[in-house]
Amino acid sequence: PQEVGILALEIYFPSQYVDQTQLELFDGVSAGKYTVGLGQSKMGFCSDREDINTLCLTVVQKLMERNGIDYGDIGRLEVGTETIIDKSKSAKTVLMQLFEDSGNTDVEGVDTTNACYGGTAALFNAINWVESSSWDGRYALVVAGDIAVYATGNARCTGGAGAVAMLVGPDAPLVIDRGVRSSHMQHVYDFYKPDMASEYPTVDGKLSIQCYLHALDKCYERFTNKAIAAGIRTGNSTLDVGDAFLFHSPYCKLVQKSFARILLNDFLRDSSPDFSGRYAGLEALRDIKLEDTYFDRAVENAVMTASKELFDVKTKQALLVANQVGNMYTPSLYGGLASFISGQTLDSIARKRVVLFSYGSGLASSMFSLQFSDNKAAGGALERLVNSLSDLKQRLESRQCVRPEDFDSYMKLREQTHHLAPYTPVGSVSVLFPGTWYLSEVDSMHRRKYERR
Ligand code: ACO
Repeated sequence: PQEVGILALEIYFPSQYVDQTQLELFDGVSAGKYTVGLGQSKMGFCSDREDINTLCLTVVQKLMERNGIDYGDIGRLEVGTETIIDKSKSAKTVLMQLFEDSGNTDVEGVDTTNACYGGTAALFNAINWVESSSWDGRYALVVAGDIAVYATGNARCTGGAGAVAMLVGPDAPLVIDRGVRSSHMQHVYDFYKPDMASEYPTVDGKLSIQCYLHALDKCYERFTNKAIAAGIRTGNSTLDVGDAFLFHSPYCKLVQKSFARILLNDFLRDSSPDFSGRYAGLEALRDIKLEDTYFDRAVENAVMTASKELFDVKTKQALLVANQVGNMYTPSLYGGLASFISGQTLDSIARKRVVLFSYGSGLASSMFSLQFSDNKAAGGALERLVNSLSDLKQRLESRQCVRPEDFDSYMKLREQTHHLAPYTPVGSVSVLFPGTWYLSEVDSMHRRKYERR
């Protein structure tokens, strides 16, 4: 099959959020720490009515309905998540409820887990399946979903929640580039979830940032080498390969620093850097070593300044959902893709190439690229993809703001109840967006029942 890639994309985020300015006040930190220091505006969260299964049910059904896809046309379904509520039964099997009426049970794939990377692993698996001898001609469906919550303290403000579903198949309007996928995998304890009874991770914040930036350097170097070999990097800068650069976003400031860092990578690789143009002000950095600079303020300031304009052009738009919802974990990168598409028109998006960096603590990371087709036919797949996300901003604005005090109570409620059985959730159903699946009951054997609003 040719032109394998993403045919449709759907995003779901919770209907309630807490405002980061109000959260700064509530947490007693200095004004601007979350909003300016981390670059976050709002954080989406879920009451006890939502769990990983409801997020996935909601986003999958929305994607199927909006695109008029028959459940019988799906041959593979895989979920990437780190929100584990069952150590054996996959979220994918719960999604099979949606397939019941169609009679289609011939659907490969289960769940994939490694922190925020599971969605990317699922996407790669789906693409590999379509390109393989196992492919049966049907679509693959990839779901990335998570509820990201942290214990009280300095990491709590970097939470979020949501899900993205992507329809994968041939003749796609958004095609994956072959031969450039690059990875960096390593054993490290930067962020992990050893406490099975808790939803919260154990985090070494500073180490996680260092690991993220190191993984970015490694993936970018390998991606650069492969992009040269594949002939998509024709000049002497990898930044010119992509019209947009999308990153897994723990918080937006880290993404801006990451964008600056790839300019630094290009600069160090360039044998005759243009100091009067792109690299103005970087003369003193000629001999630095990347691994010495993770927290070097002088280097960071210099490259942030040098890359500011390009960041505004190539990455800023893609941070819409990250800024407004927070770190959704596995869907974060794909929320970036949704954000990018939502800021484009059919004319502006045609033939654009996006470079994506996926990072999951522990750690697993990859860089790869996708290119939009130039098929601008009315009613065609590219137009449908662009149109399907044109109301993203409006959807974000239609959410309800909740006071930090109440957000805090919801977090306590989740802490106390998320493993209880039997349990009947108490969170409001009417506050959910229409079409949202919610948890109606957990029986004494931990079997969960869901209904749709
Ligand atoms: N106005 C403006 N900026 C401010 C203010 C203020 N009033 N106060 C602080 N800042 C700045 C700081 O200077 C700092 O900037 P810098 O990053 O450029 O140095 C930034 O705000 C954050 O402040 P810190 O004191 O560094 O924050 P803290 O250490 O309390 O927590 C952290 C930040 C480590 C990111 C924490 O929220 C965390 O652990 N989050 C979860 C882990 C994480 O997201 N890791 C990233 C990769 S792994 C993953 O995806 C989960």
